[in-house]
Amino acid sequence: MKNKGADINQDQENELIAIIRDRRSVRSFLDKDVPHETVFRVLEAARMAPSGVNTQPWHVAVIGKKHRRIISEAIIQARESQIPENPDYHYYPEEWFEPYKSRRKACGLALYSAVNIQIHETEKRKVQWYKNYYFFNAPLALIFYLDSRLCKGSWVDMGMFIQNVMLGARCFGLETCPQAALAEYPDIIREHLQIANTMHIVCGMAMGYADWSDPVNQYRTTREKVDTFTVWHD
Ligand SMILES: Cc1cc2nc3c(=O)[nH]c(=O)nc-3n(C[C@H](O)[C@H](O)[C@H](O)COP(=O)(O)O)c2cc1C
Repeated sequence: MKNKGADINQDQENELIAIIRDRRSVRSFLDKDVPHETVFRVLEAARMAPSGVNTQPWHVAVIGKKHRRIISEAIIQARESQIPENPDYHYYPEEWFEPYKSRRKACGLALYSAVNIQIHETEKRKVQWYKNYYFFNAPLALIFYLDSRLCKGSWVDMGMFIQNVMLGARCFGLETCPQAALAEYPDIIREHLQIANTMHIVCGMAMGYADWSDPVNQYRTTREKVDTFTVWHD
């Protein structure tokens, strides 16, 4: 059998590296629809993600404007009524610790300073955060979910699938923002999208054509140097 991997030439490699390096979370989109066919092609490529014993545990709901509006309203109503969040899993530790605590703080600061919000401006920060529940006005949103009986390994697989979606989208000029915020009230998502109670909601994702003129899209998060997280055992 032909080894396809060997066919990747230098240009393609550079293109792929550029797609990986330039991906960023985009939080403001143009009012321009994404063709169904384009999303289909992204998902068709993304499904080639690896998964343990080829379980392919991923499920995706692709949601357009009508359903999004209903979901947005339901989540906001839940928040405003102070209904406690009940995510299907803990994304973050209850008590933050270093070095993650500082990275989290830097992440928030970078976002809020891009949109000129000071740390003490609680109301403005809330308005910015609530944009999550409107899917950042993206023309399209995705919800990722999997069978709750599956184990941590399947969540690893799901992560690979989601990254494939984000990188694949970029090949069609689309940008994305993965959104754990959309998993805060999984019952609302399940109810409105008729997803079985046996499914766990992993996260959502806004997808569309970026509005690069919006300051929220004009900053980049930083990364640690390779040697910070790598141990070489030569
Ligand atoms: C699974 C997942 C969930 C995320 N949830 C949110 C979210 O709810 N809201 C948000 O604004 N960004 C969210 N992000 C985006 C991260 O803040 C972002 O990936 C990180 O700051 C690095 O920045 P970059 O994606 O621009 O490289 C999420 C990222 C991941 C991977």
